[in-house]
Amino acid sequence: MSTFNLLLLPGDGIGVEVMAEVERLLAFFNKKSKAKFEVTTDLVGGAAIDKYGTPLTDETLAKAKQADAVLFGSVGGPKWDNVPYEIRPEAGLLRLRRELDLFANLRPAICYPALAEASTLKREYVEGLDILILRELTGGTYFGEPKEIVTLENGEKRAVDTTIYTTHEIERIALVAFDLARKRKGKVHSAEKRNVMKTGVLWNQVVTETHKKYGQGVELHHILADNCAMQLVRNPKQFDVIVCDNLFGDILSDEAAMLTGSLGMLPSASLGAPDENGRRKALYEPVHGSAPDIAGQNKANPIATIASFGMALRYSFDMVREADLLDQAISNTLARGLRTADIMQPNMREVGTSEMGSAILEELERLTA
Ligand code: IPM
Ligand code: MG
Repeated sequence: MSTFNLLLLPGDGIGVEVMAEVERLLAFFNKKSKAKFEVTTDLVGGAAIDKYGTPLTDETLAKAKQADAVLFGSVGGPKWDNVPYEIRPEAGLLRLRRELDLFANLRPAICYPALAEASTLKREYVEGLDILILRELTGGTYFGEPKEIVTLENGEKRAVDTTIYTTHEIERIALVAFDLARKRKGKVHSAEKRNVMKTGVLWNQVVTETHKKYGQGVELHHILADNCAMQLVRNPKQFDVIVCDNLFGDILSDEAAMLTGSLGMLPSASLGAPDENGRRKALYEPVHGSAPDIAGQNKANPIATIASFGMALRYSFDMVREADLLDQAISNTLARGLRTADIMQPNMREVGTSEMGSAILEELERLTA
């Protein structure tokens, strides 16, 4: 039996509640002796600022580097709106992504059959939707320098963000896109803004060249990122894998989330390059934020975080069967009519975070009995 070292970073707001549901799943797998999960829990984001004055301590970062996988909740909230920019809660997450070199962010948007009515789009457009947004996560506008606000001689201010991409950064994310597409429907859309941005021009060239060399069996399309945003709501099922830079990926993945019914449904995996043993550093997190307005009220949808744990089973622990069963348990629970407030529909039963977690766990117990 394999032993896995897991670092849980619940963070702030609803992150704490949704992570508690994953802890119950971990206890279940440990009891079932499917694998042995050794769990450490630590602070990140606002919670870490309150205790240590920084959103991510060096000790926590070191633990993350040692772990087989990190499970992350969410960070931020109005309480920390006025902390200095350098130590804002989000900086903790960005430092983790950067220091662990988690360049490949997988954000699958799947519309569960039972939720086809919960989307703001008409049923026929989203029913059966299964697309994957692959977001470059360690480069581009998020990390490019200079990044500053300076005061000019005339007293006016000038803000600068810098978007940078190198050949290597684009090539490695393109390779992940082609690999993933081969296990799916074999189609990749590469989204950029080559009509206005130099990084878009290089992105387009490198993806094209990488496809020529390593893209056998994969159909490649180039699409302007703004058109991609429009096509996502016009006809989302035309897509299979969408690969894009850090900033476009942030935006397009929130948009894709709504196709599935709610931002509370979208999981994600952030992966690094494989090491000499073929293992990748990995962090799993829901795409949603800390939702301070509903935090601590047992209202949050835990599915994105539970499904993120499912991605950890799949990509970090090689427990593909268990990952499939967990997805099935989520799907069955929704089919039974249980809904958290964010995906509530007429004639369904509204439940809280812990009831949803319990129902999924019970379903999993049934499926694995
Ligand atoms: C996301 C979030 C983060 C991002 C924030 C919290 C820094 O929106 O993971 O999509 O912009 O990457
Ligand atoms: Mg985002």
